[in-house]
Amino acid sequence: MSTPPSEHTPAAERHAFVYGSIEVITGCMFSGKTEELIRRLRRAQIAKQRVEIFKPLLDNRYSETEVVSHSQHRIASRSVRASHEILQFSGEADVIGIDEAQFFDEGIVDVCETLANAGKRVIVAGLDLDYRGKPFGPMPYLMAVAEYVTKTMAVCMKSGLPASRTQRMTQNTELILVGSSAQYEARHRAFYEPPAEKHSTQ
Ligand code: ADP
Ligand code: TMP
Ligand code: MG
Repeated sequence: MSTPPSEHTPAAERHAFVYGSIEVITGCMFSGKTEELIRRLRRAQIAKQRVEIFKPLLDNRYSETEVVSHSQHRIASRSVRASHEILQFSGEADVIGIDEAQFFDEGIVDVCETLANAGKRVIVAGLDLDYRGKPFGPMPYLMAVAEYVTKTMAVCMKSGLPASRTQRMTQNTELILVGSSAQYEARHRAFYEPPAEKHSTQ
C-alpha cells in the first residue's frame, strides 16, 4: 500500500494498512450494498491503493466486466467461476472487492481469510437472506469471520418502512434466479410473505 495511514484515516483503513481485515456489507436487495461497495473501492483507488474487484460469472444481470448497482453506479471488475480464482488474481492487490458473494462456493470464506491474513483489506458484499428468508450460501460464515459488518436496508415497497427482506414476485422456486425489480421487491419483515413451497433443490 503506497499511502501511509493518518489520524484522519477511518479505522478500517488504518487497520488494513498494517494487518489486513474483512469487511462485509450485507442486507436485502435494493438496500445499497453495491453502491456502498463501489464507494469504498473508489476511495481506495483515490488513495492510490491497488484494487482488484471480483464477482461470480453467473451474475450477468447488467454487465460481465463491471459491478453495477441498481442505480447504474459502476466499477470495472473481473468475473470468476470459482472462489479460488480470486486468489490467483489478487497477488499484487492491497484491497480486494467482491460483489454477489452469496453466489460463491463455500471456499470463499477461506479465500477471504487467506487474503486478510496476507495483510490485504477485503470488502465483500452480498445478500444475507434468500427469497425464503433463509441465510444465503457462505454469507453467514463471512459475517462471522469479518472484523466489520455493515447491514444496509432498502425501502419497503408495500409500506415505505425500512426493508430487510426480499420478496420474490414470481412463482420460480430455484434458489438462484438472477434478476431485479421485475422479479423482486424489498419488504419490511411485517410485509414479507414467505413462499409456501420449499425451493426445488432442497
Ligand atoms: P443492492 O446491491 O443492495 O441490491 P444497489 O446498491 O445496487 O443495491 O442499489 C441501491 C439503489 O437501488 C438505491 O440507491 C435506489 O436508487 C435503488 N432502489 C430501487 N428500489 C429501491 C428500494 N425499494 N429501496 C431503496 N432503493 C431502491
Ligand atoms: P442485489 O443484492 O445486488 O440486488 O443482487 C441479488 C441477486 O441475487 C439478484 O440477481 C437476484 C438474485 N437472487 C437469487 O438468485 N435468489 C434469491 O433468493 C434472491 C433473494 C436474489
Ligand atoms: Mg448489488
